[in-house]
Amino acid sequence: MTSQNPSTRRRYAVAGLGHRSHMYVDAILGDHADVAELAAFCEPNRGRAAVYTDLAAERGRPGVPTYAPADLEQMITAEHVDTLIVTTPDATHADLVARALRAGADVVVEKPLTTTAQGCRTITDAVAETSRSVVMTFNYRYAPRNSELRRVIASGEIGEVTSVHFEWVLDSVHGADYFRRWHRLKDVSGGLLVHKSSHHFDLVSWWIADAPTRVYARGGLKVYGDTSPVAREMAERDAAAGLPPRPARGTGSADGTRGWEGRAGDRWALDLRADERLKALYLDAEHHDGYVRDQDVFSAGITIEDNLALLVDYERGATLTYSLNAHGPWEGYRVSVNGTKGRAELEVVERGSVELDERGRSILDPSANPGAWEGDDVRPFGDRLVVQKHWGRAREVPIPAGIGGHGGGDAILLQDVFRAPVEGARHDPLGRAAGYLDGVRAVAVGISGNASLASGQPVDVADLGLGVSISVPWPPERPAGAGSAEPVVAPHDAHPTPTSDPAGATA
Ligand SMILES: NC(=O)c1ccc[n+]([C@@H]2O[C@H](COP(=O)([O-])OP(=O)(O)OC[C@H]3O[C@@H](n4cnc5c(N)ncnc54)[C@H](O)[C@@H]3O)[C@@H](O)[C@H]2O)c1
Repeated sequence: MTSQNPSTRRRYAVAGLGHRSHMYVDAILGDHADVAELAAFCEPNRGRAAVYTDLAAERGRPGVPTYAPADLEQMITAEHVDTLIVTTPDATHADLVARALRAGADVVVEKPLTTTAQGCRTITDAVAETSRSVVMTFNYRYAPRNSELRRVIASGEIGEVTSVHFEWVLDSVHGADYFRRWHRLKDVSGGLLVHKSSHHFDLVSWWIADAPTRVYARGGLKVYGDTSPVAREMAERDAAAGLPPRPARGTGSADGTRGWEGRAGDRWALDLRADERLKALYLDAEHHDGYVRDQDVFSAGITIEDNLALLVDYERGATLTYSLNAHGPWEGYRVSVNGTKGRAELEVVERGSVELDERGRSILDPSANPGAWEGDDVRPFGDRLVVQKHWGRAREVPIPAGIGGHGGGDAILLQDVFRAPVEGARHDPLGRAAGYLDGVRAVAVGISGNASLASGQPVDVADLGLGVSISVPWPPERPAGAGSAEPVVAPHDAHPTPTSDPAGATA
């Protein structure tokens, strides 16, 4: 992590200028400008690149150079890039991460680390060869409610964890959004088990300080897609009303133009013109590369699942039962952790119901806009963590208020990402900062789950050939100076030793 630059500010390049990169660009030009400089962009779409270069100029950094992905190495050298931030579609991560490391830059990469076992090997090989740093931005760890659950488990209050039951519900606006663009293709996103659930599998491994060993998965595409009962019923209703087949994209749906006549305000569609940012980033830029952001969720070609159920074994004996649903009437999650001395339960409502405005619009990701959506009395917006020991009464654990997106996780994460390399890592007894090994551990569940969905059989994680051991050291080291009241946490992986089988010959 040595800087190429003598100044105290590290130079960052951002690869992939879509939705997610905004958070990082904003942090570099704003709250963390004293420790970070924006050196360059790497983006193939000239339209999106222009949106971001204009934004940077407005924020006092004119003329940020943009490079094509093929010129990544040249960019790192010519622009003296210390760290590449990767916010591109999931299947492109491994190549960009490995190339950046070999070109002499550290990497900050969005989840999921990669989508395949081969991608894991590509990254673990490059880390082993270069010994450079790869930071995984697992922002969910930093959400105060998730941090508090970690604290409870690590304190030993509920004893040794025996099992975890974890249910995640995406609602019919946010959930539907994964079926409109590249996420709908398993070879680009890894499906929701990799793209979305890698957040959740990381949380479980981190909460219980353990590694997955075996995965059995069931699931399917049951609501979205052109052959689901919902799609068939809709098509029959449209035909009875004399309407032509649904348009291939949602733009026009809010006001009934461009083929949406007779279906104005369709609740499953996204009209890119209704949101200035979506229009500028995607609709106005699509003639450059044909990336269509608003495909109909009932169109053909979807290769991912919208309902998933998993049974996962962990190394020290705990089991996880997990479910993901992408078309719920509300959004949030429920986690129950059973231990030898008691039980902890976390319940989170991010959006109690989906209510659309008069133009048929809603916020896509409710967790990214906390408080923007109030629930009702029956399902109020908010979170609750309850712990109960055997033979004791339940007690509610206070959850500190978070600030900003993703349950308050984004803002604290950015401090670790940008300040730690310059000011030194903060002492964090919860060990929230994540590295590439945490990323491998998280995608190992989804990749195994995808293999299990394909074969109908349980899959041993060891058979994937990930190129590195994902075991979590146990018992964990007690952080220096930790008193008995301080939680015990497993050490965060800096540079674990790759296995002697980096090419994955065990697969
Ligand atoms: N942690 C979170 O909460 C969170 C939230 C949203 C997205 N993400 C992650 O961020 C990443 C980006 O998601 P998004 O919604 O911004 O996607 P997006 O489609 O909006 O943006 C991706 C951008 O990458 C560009 N691109 C494609 N291939 C490239 C390449 N080889 N090199 C450089 N640029 C390339 C595309 O043209 C596009 O501009 C994904 O991995 C996603 O999982 C994380």
